[in-house]
Amino acid sequence: MATLRPLLAGNWKMNGTRASLSVVSALRDAVAAGRMRGVDTVVCPPATLVMAAADLCAGSSLMIGGQDCDSQPAGASTGDVSAEMLKDAGAAAVIVGHSERRNLHGESDAVVRAKAEAAARAGLLAIICVGESRAERDGGETLRVIGRQIDESVPPAATARTVALAYEPVWAIGTGLTPEATDIAEVHGFLRRRLQALIGGEGGGVRLLYGGSVKPDNAGEVWGVENVDGLLVGGASLKEEDFLAIAAAR
Ligand code: G3P
Repeated sequence: MATLRPLLAGNWKMNGTRASLSVVSALRDAVAAGRMRGVDTVVCPPATLVMAAADLCAGSSLMIGGQDCDSQPAGASTGDVSAEMLKDAGAAAVIVGHSERRNLHGESDAVVRAKAEAAARAGLLAIICVGESRAERDGGETLRVIGRQIDESVPPAATARTVALAYEPVWAIGTGLTPEATDIAEVHGFLRRRLQALIGGEGGGVRLLYGGSVKPDNAGEVWGVENVDGLLVGGASLKEEDFLAIAAAR
């Protein structure tokens, strides 16, 4: 069971049109009704919806986040969105280094770290993702790969206020597969120790999220794993009833 204040994050990925803002309104109303009590909650819609979603949540503790940001504040970078722009649009957080960015867009650990640093400069919480592929897990490489990702993606100046770390095994994303609770516990214990080695005492306060096929029916077990301080939810964050059920499973 988490000892830090839990963080529940929803990553809509490349899904959602203006009609989907009804989900944000429903979650905002659920927060107002006390249904997310004790949990920090952030919804990360596509960039096209960030400002409208944030406007809907003005005055609410439901936070809106981006799914990626550039490391530069502005400039000649067609198609990109900076951390400052997300902040200006009303975002409070941003996901960086998701495996879909690392794999589909060739983002290196150094790029991810620069993005996390940009997020901190802009006043956004960076949710930094790490995780091994199926082949890496089968080859016994899980901790070595994740250790490298942490060392090279997490800014040395990271604090519990500027960073959360999400463990997302690539093979568990969108597949319906999840690691055993003991495997999550092993990795999250490792994340905690590695972060403390990297940034000292602050590492004890950084929230560690698990992501990968979290659904209402398995959320309770994952919430209960030691050093799991939150969840990063993909598909099941697109429906308010599923996302609320995941929050309620804690
Ligand atoms: O960032 C969330 C994610 O990659 C997990 O997606 O659909 O397996 O919950 P999903």
